Amino acid sequence: MNKDCILENLRNIPNYPKPGIQFQDVSTIFKNAECLKEMADEIVNLYKDKGVTKVVGIESRGFVLGAIVASRLGAGFVMCRKPGKLPGTTRKASYQKEYGYDCIEIHDDAINENDTILIHDDLLATGGSMLAAYNLVKSFKPKDIYINFIIELCMEGLGGRKTLEGTNLTTLLQVSR
Ligand code: PRP
Ligand code: MG
Repeated sequence: MNKDCILENLRNIPNYPKPGIQFQDVSTIFKNAECLKEMADEIVNLYKDKGVTKVVGIESRGFVLGAIVASRLGAGFVMCRKPGKLPGTTRKASYQKEYGYDCIEIHDDAINENDTILIHDDLLATGGSMLAAYNLVKSFKPKDIYINFIIELCMEGLGGRKTLEGTNLTTLLQVSR
């Protein structure tokens, strides 16, 4: 994968959504055709032999590549959504975020015990949202759970990798700005 191309196209927005946060804006790597293809190719290569039956994408930035990768792996796509968005019966988990609290939900009939799951999101910061998603997915007792992020933020005090210790985790690139 051409990591330089992705890093060059990843936009940093200082002090968003609040002072002191360096926001890594993935919209600029999603709109770039070369970056989008490179990232999808890389994730497909990592998981093509794992027997993934469903990709779970975390709303909202995890939906973009999650759905592309699911299709290319011949897997289904499951939305892990913010509260109150899914119309059917759901399972829920709440978690603390880098800036505030949030809750996520998955439809109760979205995953079964024969599934092998890849959970995908754009960015690992504290790991709080992914840990909540991981535990939610785990409650369905699938055969295997893999986790992938595009970007891993490596700044002091975030501790995302530590939060997800013991899980089967890959990230495409590490950012420390
Ligand atoms: C951001 C990002 C990840 C999560 C990472 O999403 O897209 O999902 O935060 O943070 P964490 O590792 O500390 O949990 P956000 O909730 O801001 O919403 P969005 O994807 O809908 O923009
Ligand atoms: Mg997100």
